[in-house]
Amino acid sequence: PKPDRAEEDTVAFCVDDGIAWVAFNRPEKRNCMSPKLNRRMKAVLEELEFRDDVRVLVLTGEGEAWTAGMDLKEYFRETEAQGLGAIRKSQRESYGWFERLRWYEKPTIAMINGWCFGGGYGPLFGCDIAIASEDAQFGLSEINWGILPGGGASKVAQELMPFRKAMYHAMMGENLTGKQAEEQGLVTEAVPADRLKERVLEIANVLKKKDTHALRATKWTMRRMVDMTYDNGLEYQIRAQEALHSFGGAAARKEATRQFLDEKSFKPGLGTFDA
Ligand code: ACO
Repeated sequence: PKPDRAEEDTVAFCVDDGIAWVAFNRPEKRNCMSPKLNRRMKAVLEELEFRDDVRVLVLTGEGEAWTAGMDLKEYFRETEAQGLGAIRKSQRESYGWFERLRWYEKPTIAMINGWCFGGGYGPLFGCDIAIASEDAQFGLSEINWGILPGGGASKVAQELMPFRKAMYHAMMGENLTGKQAEEQGLVTEAVPADRLKERVLEIANVLKKKDTHALRATKWTMRRMVDMTYDNGLEYQIRAQEALHSFGGAAARKEATRQFLDEKSFKPGLGTFDA
């Protein structure tokens, strides 16, 4: 057997014109997530998060897969052989970067080019927008090998899909195509494979023009509100809007309002103001 990839080669990334393209990079293992990959992904995400040249992050996969879920050999079997301490460490590493992604400072887009299984639902949910190839395959395959969809996977299905569809998906171990994943709410949109990158680029280019602080506040508000009462949500939003002022929000808003009301050079209903 070929030697394993070095930790630093398990994730590929480059920054091009404001967009960080990050890829699961174990195509020969269908990009399944090993402890090495999990550690590397956390480091890469943290490195990119506050760079001024990064306005949007795209998470994709090299080769045929987005990610084939957790690595059954390195994440489960080899870790379990070392006992509880090692198990907890590897859980913290994977759940840790899924969490970083959920609360990432910059907008994120999952570009799902192929297989997406089990543990992959964590980063899938972590990304704010998910665009899949129509022929990608999504599966909670856990039930097919005698475990439950843990590591957040069943929670993701239950949060994003209608309950009856989520239950069927979790119990049956049948895959959904990108198109079906779109119909059932698991992804934002599915497009033909040859349009995937073009569509993601289109979205990223729109996001790039938005006020970065307002975008962060918006995505965090959407996620926080999920388990809040209406009144608590309303209160959170008032505070979050006021907190934007610490980052120049008041001035940005005043300028946008001026362009609309006084200069009549832009309409908020039709696009982004000129910052
Ligand atoms: N864990 C460990 N190794 C994996 C995984 C995985 N999740 N997925 C793929 N691989 C490895 C294979 O063992 C194989 O390794 P080898 O070349 O050393 O033999 C290599 O990747 C290529 O995989 P193939 O199965 O040969 O690729 P194929 O294209 O035929 O099938 C598929 C792709 C359908 C994704 C298949 O690999 C598969 O079923 N993978 C497991 C998917 C899964 O159920 N993941 C776990 C979900 S549960 C969880 O994440 C908690």
